[in-house]
Amino acid sequence: ITIRQATIRDIQAMQNANLQNLPENYLLKYYMYHILSWPQASFVATTYDYSEDVDDDEEDDEANGEVEQGAEDENKKPKVHDRIIEEVQDPKGDPAYIAKGEKIIGYVLGKMEDDPEAADKTPHGHITSLSVMRTYRRMGLAEKLMRQSLYSMTESFKAEYVSLNVRKSNRAALHLYRDSLNFEVTSIEKSYYQDGEDAYAMKLLLKLDE
Ligand code: ACO
Repeated sequence: ITIRQATIRDIQAMQNANLQNLPENYLLKYYMYHILSWPQASFVATTYDYSEDVDDDEEDDEANGEVEQGAEDENKKPKVHDRIIEEVQDPKGDPAYIAKGEKIIGYVLGKMEDDPEAADKTPHGHITSLSVMRTYRRMGLAEKLMRQSLYSMTESFKAEYVSLNVRKSNRAALHLYRDSLNFEVTSIEKSYYQDGEDAYAMKLLLKLDE
């Protein structure tokens, strides 16, 4: 499993993950807006899906006498779940980066506050959406994705704090924000969600390195 900065090529998969995991959904152009405006604020967790046939060029390979190659490649495949790769990779726009079979199992979509009407003018970030696919939960991925985004917001945009909203009933996310990441509840926003549920508005002060 790898955690890396999200790119424009990831937005479709991020939207798909969001549709599966949350009732708050967004148009593709809203993902694009995030990635283009604040490329350092959004991250994805990816793994390789070898359940699907990764080599769909087998027939070509056979024609080229490359049948043996497949057997060798089999041994090189990393085992999913074997380990979490700690490093964060920067794809730097390499078009080959999304290798065949790579799939997105979690994402954090972050932005800087850019509303000119916003009351608070101090630069601050906002977490628009976070989710991890069901089978990959409780492995620490959401916490890692959040920490990367928060760190990057301070480094790249001098964010002094970060805000987010979460459903009052969302126990798992509340635990993550409050207990693991030290966010504080700043207010309750009545009927924030379309179905009428209230939201906690939460905030975390970020430490700026001088
Ligand atoms: N119950 C209680 N606490 C939990 C749970 C849970 N089911 N899941 C995570 N936590 C808390 C714990 O404090 C945990 O630390 P611990 O394992 O040391 O006890 C901490 O969060 C970190 O857990 P992770 O493994 O990093 O979290 P995970 O990768 O499982 O993802 C998430 C958590 C994102 C909330 C996931 O459950 C999910 O995708 N849920 C559906 C979508 C969602 O609710 N997203 C957040 C909406 S709010 C927003 O987008 C701004």
